[in-house]
Amino acid sequence: MVNAALPYANGSLHLGHIAGAYLSPDIFVRFNRMIGNEVMFISGSDEYGTPITISAEKQKTTPEEIAEKFHREFLETFSSMDIKFDFFTRTSYQEHWETAQEIFLDLLGKGYLAEKPMISPYCAKCGRFMPDRYIEGTCPHCGFKQARGDQCDECGRTLDPQELIDPRCVLCDEVPEFRETSHFFLRLDLFQEKLMTWLEEKNFWRSNVLAFTRNFISAGLKERPITRDLDWGVPIPLKGYDHKRIYVWFEALIGYLSGSKIYSEKIGKPDYWKEFYYDGNVRTYYFLGKDNIPFHTVIWPAILMGMGGINLPYDVPANEYLRFKGEQFSKSRGIGLTVAEALKVIPKDYLRFYMAMNLPETGDSDFTLSDLQDKVNSELIDKFGNLIHRVVSFITKNQVEPVPGIPDQSDLKALEEAERRFENYSALISKVQIKRAFYEWLELVKFSNVYFNDAAPWKLIRTDRAKCAAKLHTALVLIEYLDYMLYPYCPSSAEKVAGIIGPDNFSSFVSSDLRRPEKSFSPVATEVPFEKLDLGSRNENRIDLRVAIIEEAVMHPNSDHLLILKLSLGTEKRQIVAGLRNHYELSDLKGKKIVLVANLKKAKLRGEVSEGMLLAAADGEKVVLLKPDEDSLPGDRINLGDLPFNMSGQLTIDELKGFNLKIENVDGKNVATATVSGKQMTMNRNGISISTYGEVGTGSTVR
Ligand code: 2FM
Ligand code: ZN
Repeated sequence: MVNAALPYANGSLHLGHIAGAYLSPDIFVRFNRMIGNEVMFISGSDEYGTPITISAEKQKTTPEEIAEKFHREFLETFSSMDIKFDFFTRTSYQEHWETAQEIFLDLLGKGYLAEKPMISPYCAKCGRFMPDRYIEGTCPHCGFKQARGDQCDECGRTLDPQELIDPRCVLCDEVPEFRETSHFFLRLDLFQEKLMTWLEEKNFWRSNVLAFTRNFISAGLKERPITRDLDWGVPIPLKGYDHKRIYVWFEALIGYLSGSKIYSEKIGKPDYWKEFYYDGNVRTYYFLGKDNIPFHTVIWPAILMGMGGINLPYDVPANEYLRFKGEQFSKSRGIGLTVAEALKVIPKDYLRFYMAMNLPETGDSDFTLSDLQDKVNSELIDKFGNLIHRVVSFITKNQVEPVPGIPDQSDLKALEEAERRFENYSALISKVQIKRAFYEWLELVKFSNVYFNDAAPWKLIRTDRAKCAAKLHTALVLIEYLDYMLYPYCPSSAEKVAGIIGPDNFSSFVSSDLRRPEKSFSPVATEVPFEKLDLGSRNENRIDLRVAIIEEAVMHPNSDHLLILKLSLGTEKRQIVAGLRNHYELSDLKGKKIVLVANLKKAKLRGEVSEGMLLAAADGEKVVLLKPDEDSLPGDRINLGDLPFNMSGQLTIDELKGFNLKIENVDGKNVATATVSGKQMTMNRNGISISTYGEVGTGSTVR
């Protein structure tokens, strides 16, 4: 049973998410199926929780709409990366509600839930109880200033809003009061001993996961509230709790179980999930990022123990973070790339390849585009792709049939080496050391190149054709091993190679047997199997354009043509100074979505800081703002054509002018453009071009 953390349906997935929680299980599942294990692989959209209601409130839409939009996007994103779940569920499914409610009642009946009064943050200005996440302040453990009421993202500790130093309401900045309200608590304290005993068998867990969990438990488990004052979430299945809901973390975990039930029904075997949840021989794995550890190693096991008779997690191989230039990936802050952005310029398997080599399994790891290009070109393309090309084109050109002969020392050694590397690789993946396993592949690629060079068939063909054929056969056996080993990591490339060296050998990568004694190959002539990656030539775009919303507009105190605008870029706020006073009323500006150059050097204009510049088109005296499309959200990146954004720091005004921003007529519509390396590119968000709030002539300048 393989589960991957249900991502919040609240924002696009970026490469950090993929490397953190989704690529590893996909590789793990593909490998397990290849060696003949039966697997169920589940994830889904986590639709509740306050991150979604916060976004909805900020974007003036409903949580349902946000969840719907991102659920669809997730399905596309995962499929575009060849991450293939058996089922990608949703926590809004009725069966999920029912399962969560049943478990709630089951635990309540057994005395594992208790109802108690508790003190909760109440914002007098907003007039309601505020969920933990709506309160931010300083972390009492590490001093991080933006800790949330539920958890500190810096030190990873879970928090109560009351523990925060200087707490504030994220919606209105008011200092919250703490008032009494009544909630259900999970009696984690009753599981302290049992969890400790269970952990004793977990010495094979990753040391960070084990240490974190041990500390968490030995600090003493307290009962935790599992309901909240909220309207968005799974209802409490009891009378009189209309404005309370089951806490997202309690029910999202249940999403794994309900997801496998829904899947079983879908495939017409309604009891199939039971095999995975009740058969003690099944190993259950949970893949997730490190911020999710305690929920899966303490709370979920406690819930399962409370239910009784169900398989507990076998392993929880949590990853650390993939970083982009030393910083955590963050869509809202514009750090790193979303999957969709990356896929515009990098084929999926190159991304999978590089991320697999770089998985943050034992510590944080760094993602850079230039390193990606180097690794892909030197390892996958130069070493593996080239080897295939050399072997196959030699065979087809010289029309030698690759058949086994009497093996000499070097052939025996080659086969042994392949077997040994494959064994190491299998053992490592089985222990969920996905990155280290891949290094076995890299080693075998290196070895195979040496083998082929030493075999020198181009000499043998003149002296000993039979031996030449045998050497080529061994080379193909090596390539076949390599291709099997590559498959879980880069499935579509492996399939392509399979088609080249002999389709018969790879009717399917599922449960195929690598060790058939007599194999025949029928390679077909080919160009190089993989294209080289050349990101440099496409990396001239240095303007970081973002969708922003004007939250406030006021007059500049020291100027009669400038305004001060307070902007939101999703979670980040900025102030900019803009010369719009003669063109827009203050009341017109408030709430408008605009286009911001987000990486312009900070400047002070008449004593006020300006962190960026908004873009407007000027046609003579007339000035109108650029207009992002309806569906865009604050923080979204605006692209130039399909160029990737080159993240090399800040831009000066003069550099910005060099891009010659203009309104041009494209396909009968006036749209904003920029010129990059001599080519005119359309500004667009996910392919939808940027227009203006009001008519201006073609050729108008944008500034
Ligand atoms: O961190 C997150 O994105 C959570 N939505 C993970 C939930 S995992 C499980 F509970 F489903
Ligand atoms: Zn408030």
